[in-house]
Amino acid sequence: MSPAVDLVGDLRETVGSAQVLTDPDLTIGYVRDWTGRWTGNTTAVVRPGSVEEVQRVVRICQEAGAPLVPQGGNTGLVGGSIPHRGEVLLSLRRLDWLRPIEHDTGSVIAGAGVTLGTLQAHARKEGLVYAVDLASRDSATVGGTIATNAGGAFVVSRGDTRRQVRGLEVVFADGSVVSTIETLPKVSTGPDLLQTMIGSEGTLGVITSARLHLSIPNGAEHMVMLIGADTLADGLRVMGPGLRAIEFFDRACLEAVMEHRGLVRPIQGDFPFYLLVETTGNLDLEESSPAVVDRSLWVYRESITETINGLGVPLKLDVALPFDRMDEFADAVRALDAPGAIFLYGHLAEGNFHVNTVGSPDPDRASEAILGLVVSMGGAIASEHGIGVAKTGWWRRTTDPGSIELARRVKEALDPNRILNPQVFWG
Ligand code: FAD
Ligand code: MLT
Ligand code: ZN
Repeated sequence: MSPAVDLVGDLRETVGSAQVLTDPDLTIGYVRDWTGRWTGNTTAVVRPGSVEEVQRVVRICQEAGAPLVPQGGNTGLVGGSIPHRGEVLLSLRRLDWLRPIEHDTGSVIAGAGVTLGTLQAHARKEGLVYAVDLASRDSATVGGTIATNAGGAFVVSRGDTRRQVRGLEVVFADGSVVSTIETLPKVSTGPDLLQTMIGSEGTLGVITSARLHLSIPNGAEHMVMLIGADTLADGLRVMGPGLRAIEFFDRACLEAVMEHRGLVRPIQGDFPFYLLVETTGNLDLEESSPAVVDRSLWVYRESITETINGLGVPLKLDVALPFDRMDEFADAVRALDAPGAIFLYGHLAEGNFHVNTVGSPDPDRASEAILGLVVSMGGAIASEHGIGVAKTGWWRRTTDPGSIELARRVKEALDPNRILNPQVFWG
């Protein structure tokens, strides 16, 4: 950046001084990630309140050659939502407008800064459902969940974020804006290029708003059940018609959550794994399967992330395994040399594993060993949290060269000066 450029002054002039933060006491919440694993630094946190302001901020950064990192709720778990090398932090939280629900198209237009919790409440008031739900719902935003293609517990029945996006408005690195938000429910006028933004983790454009699909609940009575299981293969056999969610966690997770939340043991007996199942169907359980039915059981699953964070800074690895290798993977992780305390949980129907370790003497070595196991078993190094800065090396090593080259060409076309979240994917 040229020393003659008064970047902070220009940003203040554009969005107003109150919306440009440089005091470290105020910026700390934007430069430290949710887990506490990464703390970066920033030239300034900028909080535009309109699409036009986002455009002007991006143009100022482009002209100054100053990289920027888009941020929503800062609940991302791969270190991609914070500035690592003094980048400008572009907070989208003030883009929090929510238009009235359109019942005829079954959709709603939401600003990028609307939280999932607010969006869900808005839909619920009119008898509809926004399909994606995460325990981070009160902070995670529409923009952040699209940029990471977030998953969560209901992917098996309702799909991931990609399945909900009907249109997008995006500000590109040159400050131009493109929108598909006002499109009709079905058009075939060429490729929908803005779909490329889904899962792009702030590296290709800044999402400023989205048209999102809302589902009509089927009205069927559902039950929530906790089941003790000896293996994950036993859990996979439970999947059947009417399944809305099937989550698993291991003994270590249950013990830690009971301790942290002061909760009672929810089921008699002690098992290697527990399954939390929400279904409208009849489960085909063997009579001997220990199970308890209660809607409040979700707290045991939803408290895991916060509980683990309370034990220390975790190494969090979100991965996916082929179904027939999930138990073998769990055994292999536990047999690794000193990775610290291990917690295994995840979204069973996606083969998703959240491998968390706390207190590892060498988290980088543990990460290499665990991701190495994943790849050797035919798994994927990222299931729902994305690549961020945590897995850039593994992304390059494990993605086929044709896909990497295509990603490079798209990046080159949309952000030739690499000002958008430069440490993610390519850092
Ligand atoms: P941020 O963390 O702010 O950003 C995430 C990424 O998106 C960054 O790369 C950032 O640059 C980019 N970005 C953010 N906003 C924009 C924008 N407007 N335009 C362009 N790029 C943008 N994730 C799951 O998938 N499933 C879960 O079940 C799940 N549960 C969670 C539970 C807890 C308790 C926590 C803390 C996290 C959980 N997460 C989960 C991870 C996290 O909530 C998701 O990744 C979420 O999508 C991040 O949204 P955010 O608004 O916080 O984005
Ligand atoms: C979850 O499923 O609980 C989330 O993805 C968060 C986490 O991995 O801890
Ligand atoms: Zn998850």
